[in-house]
Amino acid sequence: MTDTLSSPSVDADRYLVVGNPIAHSKSPLIHAAFARQTGQHIHYDRRLVDTDPPTAFAEAMRRFAQEEGGRGANVTLPFKEAAFALADEHSERARLAGAANTLSFVDGRVLADNTDGAGIVWDILRQGVSLDGCSVTVLGAGGAARGLMFSLLQAGVRQLVVANRTLPRALALAADLNPALEALGFGVTIEALPLADAPSADILINATSAGLHAEGLALPQALFADCRLAYDCVYAAQPTAFMQQASAAGVPVVSDGLGMLVGQAAESFRIWRGLMPDAAAVLKELRASIGH
Ligand code: ATR
Repeated sequence: MTDTLSSPSVDADRYLVVGNPIAHSKSPLIHAAFARQTGQHIHYDRRLVDTDPPTAFAEAMRRFAQEEGGRGANVTLPFKEAAFALADEHSERARLAGAANTLSFVDGRVLADNTDGAGIVWDILRQGVSLDGCSVTVLGAGGAARGLMFSLLQAGVRQLVVANRTLPRALALAADLNPALEALGFGVTIEALPLADAPSADILINATSAGLHAEGLALPQALFADCRLAYDCVYAAQPTAFMQQASAAGVPVVSDGLGMLVGQAAESFRIWRGLMPDAAAVLKELRASIGH
């Protein structure tokens, strides 16, 4: 898989992925593939932004939009909250996440959206697992977990538990989101529990960062009983400890988060370009290129 759009062209619309670190981001490859597939003329780059001073991110976005003619940016760690904060307008799902991974620069204004939840929903459905009427247990209560809640409920999840090592963080997430979810008419409230009490569910999602540090989560085997899908939001060359445990427990579908990455990118591309690329084809290409 090659990034054939890497040479700048004067008339191509410009996009970026911004983060720290950013060198290993696959977003330029993915968006180049979408652009090839749909015949869109874009240039998509990656940019490292300093975390110090704290204003560096907003300044980098201002420069890209106003001086370099940038049309949009994907934002990754640790700037998703800063991206939300600098925007003039926010989608509902960005507001609920309190974070943005997609910025659009339109007529001098900054529009914020969050496509992470749409990415995971797309990847779960793609794997033949329904969310409608299901119970879901999400492990973790950080930014990654928060970003999924709206889209999971929108997809028809009927029972949603957030289980976290540090219970007050899970309680805070639920207390924060439940009134807004109620106002939106979902009729489901998020239940917060300690990680040790995480209940078995149709779908188990690991949104902790434990896998990134090759740490195990020490989950009881009973957690995986009757589970139809175990989904880890991260991806790595080898299955994470969470994925290995789910496979050993006999969970029929075990997934890493590569599809979520491609799915969130596809939704960003749709926001910017007004058309949905064939994300499944690009995911297949990406998996083949990285050999897993
Ligand atoms: P992110 O934005 O990726 O969600 P974060 O806000 O730092 O990152 O949150 C990381 C999440 O992973 C938290 O839910 C964290 O649990 P705590 O709130 O108790 O810190 C969870 N996490 C990270 N390492 C973990 C581990 N080894 N065991 C259990 N939970 C872990």
